[in-house]
Amino acid sequence: SAAEKGGYDYFMLKEIAEQPKAVADTLLGRIDVAGSLTLDEIRIPAEVLREATKVVIVACGTAFHAGLIAKYAIEHWTRIPCEVELASEFRYRDPILDERTLVIAISQSGETMDTLMAVRHAREQGARVLAICNTNGSTIPRESDAVLYTHAGPEVAVASTKAFLTQLVACYLVALYLGQVRGTQAGDEIRAVIRDLAEISTAVERVLETMEPVRELARSLAAKNTVLFLGRHVGYPVALEGALKLKELAYMHAEGFAAGELKHGPIALIDEDLPVVVVVPSPRGHSVLHDKIVSNIQEIRARGARTIVIAEEGDETVSPYADHLIRIPVTPALLQPLVATVPLQVFACELATARGNEVDQPRNLAKSVTVE
Ligand code: AGP
Repeated sequence: SAAEKGGYDYFMLKEIAEQPKAVADTLLGRIDVAGSLTLDEIRIPAEVLREATKVVIVACGTAFHAGLIAKYAIEHWTRIPCEVELASEFRYRDPILDERTLVIAISQSGETMDTLMAVRHAREQGARVLAICNTNGSTIPRESDAVLYTHAGPEVAVASTKAFLTQLVACYLVALYLGQVRGTQAGDEIRAVIRDLAEISTAVERVLETMEPVRELARSLAAKNTVLFLGRHVGYPVALEGALKLKELAYMHAEGFAAGELKHGPIALIDEDLPVVVVVPSPRGHSVLHDKIVSNIQEIRARGARTIVIAEEGDETVSPYADHLIRIPVTPALLQPLVATVPLQVFACELATARGNEVDQPRNLAKSVTVE
């Protein structure tokens, strides 16, 4: 009913709007007054976390994209090797796991069969499994050694939005906590990022206030067949997520690429008027990658494509090459996906509406996939 949707036309719009609160709620009570993380709810003993030699993340779809981003954070802040794998591929590959492997299973519903089967397989091999989940008492947390709940509240729309942002928050918390427990070199940076996380909810709110031009842009592209998404570093999974949202909602051909791969093939796709969305890394956080991606934008534009650029406030280097410029607040480099994903959600939702598609219930899809 309209009341359930809180005055919005679709659950998806309501859930996009709820993201600042979802992010804040997921942080709530997990950072103490001294600025340290208190994640006692992860009942895996600190010794076990200290002795872990490898982290393996398993998930599907949007949750898998959260896992891809988590890898950058975990390896950077903890120096523990981290692999990320689609849950549906994981166990059939005969992966190498033991008692010192920490497996993280990410699932909004906690009922995704592929992810559940990966959890069972990991535990059979003696690995410890930590679930990151949004649904209290669901199967995946029940079958895991420990759980860190995301507090996004119920997500009804098939396309995941607020669950994704809170999965990211939970992943950052786990990465920072592992760093804290293991006492890595990155101690000062970890303390600074914990402080920055507290500001993220406000940053997401600011992004949401500036989305009208994104909706207008989406409507203007309703007759297109293809949209490409490019990113690097943590912007690469953001590009994959933008493409997935567009496929499932707008039924358009959309692909996400690592921008560095462009020259290894995908640049052949670039055509007059093709919309290409580029997620630009922070110029302070990653000046080398930033400059490389600015060259990519120039190359794409030289071939006549329509460039849609998502860049930090104050980053003027991109302006001359952007047909459309979408600004996001300045954040620490690793946290950028929390703000960069939001315009892509709005973009896909508006394109779906413009194309007359059912936003909350896309064709052929179910909210949770409980078959293998
Ligand atoms: C995302 O928009 C999807 N509908 C889908 O990819 C989803 O993220 C995936 O099926 C995993 O679901 P889960 O988080 O409930 O395990």
